[in-house]
Amino acid sequence: DRVVALVPAAGQGVRLGAGMPKAFVTLGGETLLRLAVDGLLASGVVDRVVVIVPADRVPEVRGELPDGVDVVAGGAERTDSVRAGIAAAPDADLLLVHDAARALTPPELIARVVAALRAGRSAVVPVVPVADTVKTVDPLGVVTGTPERSELRAVQTPQGFSADLLRRAYAAAESVATDDAGLVERIGGPVHTVAGDPLAFKITTALDLALARALSEEPAI
Ligand code: C5P
Repeated sequence: DRVVALVPAAGQGVRLGAGMPKAFVTLGGETLLRLAVDGLLASGVVDRVVVIVPADRVPEVRGELPDGVDVVAGGAERTDSVRAGIAAAPDADLLLVHDAARALTPPELIARVVAALRAGRSAVVPVVPVADTVKTVDPLGVVTGTPERSELRAVQTPQGFSADLLRRAYAAAESVATDDAGLVERIGGPVHTVAGDPLAFKITTALDLALARALSEEPAI
């Protein structure tokens, strides 16, 4: 089975406040995008990588990534960017979708996701327990519920899918989703979990970037 990993990296990174698209922020001299791609290649279970970047960055990224990594232009929403990646991977039997922002994801986690797919699962997400109690609120901020914490999981990437299933989920998608498995759930597909890893955290805020820099032994800015 041919495994193609899609790396959406076309977000603007507004919450990080670095003044540039998040995937191009550096950690130990390498961009988050490059680190994410290197992790996928180091896993030994990925045949091809397609990265999705802002349209104006396509030529520069093509020159910076290893040979064999394909680069395509993304869209306004993450869903649009992933859709562009799916279109560039017609050869895939299994598709992984991995955020560039999860730059420190251990290659072993990537291998666990692919192993579950090869064992016959058609949709697999890495998860970790939730430390905080989570509440739902109404538009005024008044609490409307407290889901049982032991049943909650935070979802990471890469999320893995049989390519046909993910293509069908995206063909049926009528609105945006914050994760790809959510679109598979909407068409009724069972989604299985494997153990995630705290190092696969998404670098979203300045605090996350400080943590990532500390972990890669670079002085925080
Ligand atoms: O915004 P969020 O943190 O959920 O983004 C997750 C990943 O999706 C990031 O790697 C980001 O670059 C990517 N993304 C994208 N196209 C967008 C928005 C986000 O590729 N329009």
